[in-house]
Amino acid sequence: MYNFDKVRNRIGTYSFKWDQYQDENILALSTADMDFDSPKEIKEALIARAEEGIYAYEDKSEGYYQAVEGWYERRFHWAIKREWITNTPGVWTAMHLCVEAFTEPGDAVLVHSPHFSPIPNIVKGCHRRMVTNVMPYDKAAGKYVIDFASMENVIIKEQVKAFIMINPQNPTGRVFTEEELKKIGEICAKYQVSIISDEVHGHVVYDGHRHLPACMVSEELKHLTAIITAPSKSFNLQGMTYAVVIIPDEDLREKFEAERRGYNMEFAVNVFSLAAVEAAYSKCDRWLDALNEYLLGNLNFLTEYIEKNIPDIKVIRPEGSYMVWLDFRKFGKTPEELRQLLLGAHIGFTYGDSFGPEGEGYERINIGCPRSVLEKCLERLKGALGTG
Ligand SMILES: Cc1ncc(COP(=O)(O)O)c(C=O)c1O
Repeated sequence: MYNFDKVRNRIGTYSFKWDQYQDENILALSTADMDFDSPKEIKEALIARAEEGIYAYEDKSEGYYQAVEGWYERRFHWAIKREWITNTPGVWTAMHLCVEAFTEPGDAVLVHSPHFSPIPNIVKGCHRRMVTNVMPYDKAAGKYVIDFASMENVIIKEQVKAFIMINPQNPTGRVFTEEELKKIGEICAKYQVSIISDEVHGHVVYDGHRHLPACMVSEELKHLTAIITAPSKSFNLQGMTYAVVIIPDEDLREKFEAERRGYNMEFAVNVFSLAAVEAAYSKCDRWLDALNEYLLGNLNFLTEYIEKNIPDIKVIRPEGSYMVWLDFRKFGKTPEELRQLLLGAHIGFTYGDSFGPEGEGYERINIGCPRSVLEKCLERLKGALGTG
């Protein structure tokens, strides 16, 4: 019914992912977008909006709000109130505004490490200090875990005022459980730490894991947290630069809105983003379910291929998102040597050391591509490293 196997050539299209290497021989499985067409319902909504001919200032429609509310009701069994919903042009803009709204210059902002590379830039750009709590890999559990004792220590020692939580976590792929989220809520409530919960990868999950929007988990989280989400990752709408922000707590929301007002964002909204968000959240559930199935197939294919052919790479199986964290440490190579090896094999991954010191010796692969492209990439990797 949906053809995720179709290969689209994106080289020479100004695709950031594919054209960043300036080398048409490189297979780009790096930057977090997918090589799939978005659902046809979104394309139709955009064409219909384009046909209108006027693209001027526009309010959010009843249909837009119903789509966002309906999405959370259907997919997460969470009833959100309309006044909790706000928006920005993109996730990073929302994160930047949250940091400015919830903290003061010089304050410490906490993030789990390994962490995604734009986060330090945002915190620095807000003239705050980024501090990290390292997520250790628990061998017995086979996953990265949160060291709550050390998290609490960092919060006390650095007098942390806000915590940027990425859930599902990028790059480890962890989807935090209800228990973990509750514990985070308890610790943050104890020290009055605001939570900025980036949930943009929350619509792709595997193996029965369930993404839980933080604010629905406990009263503490409801009052401490701003959720930032978007259909960008799951429906391949990154070029629409739009984020939905959900803040149930009135005081927290007012702080955010005061910051946002400074940019007059309510007045000028991209009309195409609104049409795309409405269509994604109201008409594309079946497409998303099919995508999840296809990506699970890719994940299983990748895991089995590497176990059989390149067993010295360890696959950290993600619980959510189409990013997979690969442990190359057995090869004993420096980040630069790994980079050269991958480029020499015409493979583009996201380099592990860009996720902070805990990322050294790792690489992140993006499996949001047709299986044949993934297979070709893995064959190249096997050629460069394989022992099987
Ligand atoms: C965790 C996380 N947050 C935010 C973003 C950016 O989202 P957008 O470009 O849709 O604003 C990314 C993109 O890779 C991401 O991985």
